[in-house]
Amino acid sequence: MSMDRLCYLNGAYKPLALAQVSVLDRGFIFGDGIYEVVPVYGRKLFRFDEHLARLERSLAKVRIPDPCTREQWLERCRKLVAALYEGERVEDQVIYLQVTRGVAPRDHVMPEGLTPTVFMMCNPMKAPTAEQRHHGVACTTARDFRWERGDIKSVSLLGNVLARQMSADHGALETIMFREGPHGGPWLTEASGSNVWIVKDGALLGPPKSEHVLEGIRVELLHELCEEEGIAYNLKPISEADVRAADEVLLTSATKEVLPVTRIDGDAVGHGALRGRPGPVYSRLYEAYQRAKSLQSI
Ligand code: PDD
Repeated sequence: MSMDRLCYLNGAYKPLALAQVSVLDRGFIFGDGIYEVVPVYGRKLFRFDEHLARLERSLAKVRIPDPCTREQWLERCRKLVAALYEGERVEDQVIYLQVTRGVAPRDHVMPEGLTPTVFMMCNPMKAPTAEQRHHGVACTTARDFRWERGDIKSVSLLGNVLARQMSADHGALETIMFREGPHGGPWLTEASGSNVWIVKDGALLGPPKSEHVLEGIRVELLHELCEEEGIAYNLKPISEADVRAADEVLLTSATKEVLPVTRIDGDAVGHGALRGRPGPVYSRLYEAYQRAKSLQSI
């Protein structure tokens, strides 16, 4: 990654190599902060207002005041996108932005009146390869051993990092996680950095919204795309057995868009002629997603 790339830190634009924060920043000491990842296509921000709304929800949940207005966020995003385009001619990018509670002597209690630290950078998008889209990707599974507030887009991602590494160690792309619930289970929650979906009898099914699952920006987007395509869409508890017996399994995230999973723990996903191959609901949602990209970017 080029350290000459422009980033934004606390009111100033500078090369990444020159951006520095205090060792007493609570983001560094406690992981006390939140973040967002916004995809950019053709230098335009995709579903920007939805990402900003989630940023505001995350900030409110952890009691950090929103340090900027929508116009300020947008202007900074646009400036970073333009800089990456001018410097490296990159059209499709990913904006990463992070807000921490700020700098203070180490104490678990939230200090009053801190100025939040704001950091933003923009990088080329690492989209799935044509090969991954054509053949689908492999995932492994694990018990969801993370904390109980997966709904907060927190920078404290050690649980997700450990979970992701479990699949990486097996050459797989994601770790799909299940959590025991009061009424049986194990139930599907999400993957280390993606939401997870199954297709059963032509319907797209995802886990219900809860404190254990991040409400991905693609959760509502897929709802809209299913309505356009006439595909039934439902959020309801999904058991581990349901996942293993699904017709199709899909991942969604800012960078994966919608991506087919064709192997889970080494077993082929699906049935009949489509076993181990991306299925028809994936193909329709992928095409619909590509149309949405040009219609919903600002
Ligand atoms: N990850 N669940 C988790 C735990 C995630 O980290 C992500 C995204 C998602 C999907 O959310 P969205 O559709 O808004 O990208 C679900 C981002 C991309 C990341 O951490 O890099």
